[in-house]
Amino acid sequence: MNIIFIAPPAAGKGTQASLLKEEFGLYHLSTGDLLREIAATNTEIGKEIKNLIDNGLFVSDELMFRLLESKISSIKKSNGIIFDGFPRTLKQASMLDELMEKNNDKIDHVIFLDIEKEVATKRATGRVSCNNCGSIYNIYFDSFIEDGKCNKCGCALTKREDDTIEKFSNRFDTYMEKTMPLISYYENKGLLTKISCNGTKEEIYDNIKSVLRRHVW
Ligand code: AP5
Ligand code: MG
Repeated sequence: MNIIFIAPPAAGKGTQASLLKEEFGLYHLSTGDLLREIAATNTEIGKEIKNLIDNGLFVSDELMFRLLESKISSIKKSNGIIFDGFPRTLKQASMLDELMEKNNDKIDHVIFLDIEKEVATKRATGRVSCNNCGSIYNIYFDSFIEDGKCNKCGCALTKREDDTIEKFSNRFDTYMEKTMPLISYYENKGLLTKISCNGTKEEIYDNIKSVLRRHVW
């Protein structure tokens, strides 16, 4: 089963993908996480990527696709892939279609998580995550066993550099311009379901599972 999450920044793609990964053994492929790993290296390409991410701009379709293709070919065993943050442009969508066809595979469903900018901004500015186990939290909505530490593994929690109000606003606007056209692209293929992000993580997760039960399982 291969699923795409399309959603504005901070809608909850990573949060929901990790729940699906845990329950169904899917591979969580977050292109944002992939790029942040490269950005953290002290290389030319790392610096270039960091500069783009920090300004809320997209990495070029060609580079993004090369990184994605190589990541997919390194996946050893999974029950399918959750694409979190890819595709983000129409060009990336058609590149993914071609890759799927080449691999005799297909996209089974596309979930569009819808959220307003104001709600998303609060989620982004309150986000903290664990660099060790990847758990995502929010200082406004979650409680912590120990302040600043991950509830699961006890490691330090950090804020993302692109989660300031200004950088977040740029990211959100880039999404509206470049990614929104994907909604009708996947609607026309009969693959898309829209789910509102107003609700708790658990409520949204239940809604996602009932959509997948209807369309995929
Ligand atoms: P990426 O890392 O994908 O960032 P994003 O799309 O901006 O999405 P986020 O990770 O910010 O949000 P999310 O939806 O995962 O939300 P989360 O679950 O964390 O990409 C970063 C950058 O990389 C891009 O800007 C671009 O530069 C580049 N890039 C990536 N992919 C690319 C591509 N394909 N092509 C070109 N460039 C690319 O949740 C957010 C917060 O909300 C958390 O604190 C969480 O605890 C909280 N939360 C979640 N659900 C709820 C809920 N129901 N109620 C209350 N709080 C909630
Ligand atoms: Mg994310």
